[in-house]
Amino acid sequence: MLSCFRVGLVVLLCLIGFSCAVPVKFADCGSTSGKVSTVDISPCVTQPCQLQKGQSYSVNVTFSSAVASKTSKAVVHGIIAGVPIPFPIPIEDGCQSGIQCPIQKEQSYNYLNNLPVKSEYPSMKLVVEWELKDDNKEDFFCIKFPVQIVN
Ligand SMILES: *[C@@H]1O[C@H](CO)[C@@H](O)[C@H](O)[C@H]1NC(C)=O
Repeated sequence: MLSCFRVGLVVLLCLIGFSCAVPVKFADCGSTSGKVSTVDISPCVTQPCQLQKGQSYSVNVTFSSAVASKTSKAVVHGIIAGVPIPFPIPIEDGCQSGIQCPIQKEQSYNYLNNLPVKSEYPSMKLVVEWELKDDNKEDFFCIKFPVQIVN
């Protein structure tokens, strides 16, 4: 009952435009140079996240690094019917996405970026795969989460 009330409250706060971030259920797809603790997409009140065309969503991935690295580069794919399709994001450089570089070993970082959903995208369900690569192209993180593109 209480938790139901809490969920209702969060949804209400989100609907009236408060900044709200509900952790998204994600799958790890091979983070070797780090470990992910939370993934927040905002606004996203249902799972899978409903992404409206023409909107932009903020992404916040909290991870800890297992290695040091001077650079970090994000690579995003949309997996449609099992096929990964490159998904361009405006800023690929992780060092310009909330991360202070050089990345140090055994530190916690918040990777912050935007997921723009263009109006010409078709309405469908897909899986977003988001990787952040280190100097050696190993993944600080590789996460996958389902989304639904809606009108
Ligand atoms: C990102 O998420 C972390 C962990 O939930 C939180 O501490 C931090 O404030 C968030 N950053 C932003 C800019 O939302």
